[in-house]
Amino acid sequence: MITPESTGGPASAPQIACTIDGHQVRVPEGTTVLKALRLIGKDVPTLCYSDRMVPFGACRTCLVEVEGRKPVASCHTPVGEGAKYRTHSALLTRLRKNITELVVSDHPLECLDCSANGRCELQTLAQDVGLRTPRYENPRTHNPHKDDSHPFVKLEMDKCIGCARCVRACDEVQGSFILAMEGRGYDTRVIAGNDTGFEEANCASCGQCVIECPVAALSEPGLREHGKPDGTVTTTCSYCGVGCSLNVNTKDGRVVNIEPNPQGSANIGHTCVKGRFAHQFAHSKDRLTSPLIRQPDGSFHEASWDEALDLIATKFSEIKKKYGPESFAAISSSRCTNEENYLMQKFARVVMGTNSIDNCSRVCHSPSAYALNNALGTGAGTNSFQDVHLSDVLMIVGANPTEAHPVFGSRIRQAMLAGCKLIVLDPRNTELATWADIHLPLKPGSNVAVINAMQ
Ligand code: FES
Repeated sequence: MITPESTGGPASAPQIACTIDGHQVRVPEGTTVLKALRLIGKDVPTLCYSDRMVPFGACRTCLVEVEGRKPVASCHTPVGEGAKYRTHSALLTRLRKNITELVVSDHPLECLDCSANGRCELQTLAQDVGLRTPRYENPRTHNPHKDDSHPFVKLEMDKCIGCARCVRACDEVQGSFILAMEGRGYDTRVIAGNDTGFEEANCASCGQCVIECPVAALSEPGLREHGKPDGTVTTTCSYCGVGCSLNVNTKDGRVVNIEPNPQGSANIGHTCVKGRFAHQFAHSKDRLTSPLIRQPDGSFHEASWDEALDLIATKFSEIKKKYGPESFAAISSSRCTNEENYLMQKFARVVMGTNSIDNCSRVCHSPSAYALNNALGTGAGTNSFQDVHLSDVLMIVGANPTEAHPVFGSRIRQAMLAGCKLIVLDPRNTELATWADIHLPLKPGSNVAVINAMQ
């Protein structure tokens, strides 16, 4: 997988020099022209390109001129030693406009009625090249194939421009291989599974295909009714410990949808189904949104936050005064963020004056923290997620990242697609066990003996 922080060429590769719009540029050998020109603040339009995936070279909108040669697609062409590139010229504008016309010829021009209106990459490209009405027309009626069997993903093939970003996202980012392109020309279709539809295709519902779709051939149902969000809050997903960075889009103070933050170092623009789509609880009518104070008769009285906090402070102070600080203990939650857990321990130590502060992860993590501390000097993991992509071999012992930490499970699959080997020690036939080069289905309880035998 190509990460946003990489330059496209191996850091250790020899440097080569080229000229882009008159600027001298040195980049590692293997860097694409597109990455090189973006490194110096230049840009060209793209449609089929995504920096999360291997370049595909399908749409040709990223053309650049090369002195002494025909224009080349910059997204998948490596920089040539001494080459001179031009990113903008009358010839390139004419070519890009013609390419855009061809793409638009197979796309309905009903922008105002489209959920991608205002954030459609094809719409932006058409504006950039000054295209109002295309000269070409689809000789057939638009592709009528639709699939709305999935609760979170809607497919409308008449909007598809055949860039295959959805298919590649499913393969290269999620590692699920659920989608494929079927047919030729105007009849090309995105299909799920064995053309069974999304619902039956064992889709993991990560929504990455929707994120990558540059138009709205794949979209989230119900989003169009909200119009454009009026705010975005970047936050950290609290469903598991991966720490995915999420952009929560809001309208009129309500969450309308959640998208992965491309800058998030843990997830690099990816999420699982929970972080992406499981946000409806935020506005559930069953949710308590104000404090309830129990009355002497057992009933609850709805209170303001000030009233509730005053009552808690009074009661805690009374307990501390009467029984001492050690009468108080606090247990924080691994569902909370690091910052919230930090505040909780500050409250226990500074306000209540006790060190009796713990976290629920003590129950599951205490033995591993002890062992890690003895072996590595710290009771936590010592590797970053990025290290997975630098590894030749990974070994998973008794863990099921696909289910427990799905985004990390995908990163393991990405590493394997790049050639990393995998060994799984687990009595269960987990999803990653089916990918593993070696699966050791050891007897439950024999982990330590198996690992000692490896020494
Ligand atoms: Fe380069 Fe599509 S973006 S060919």
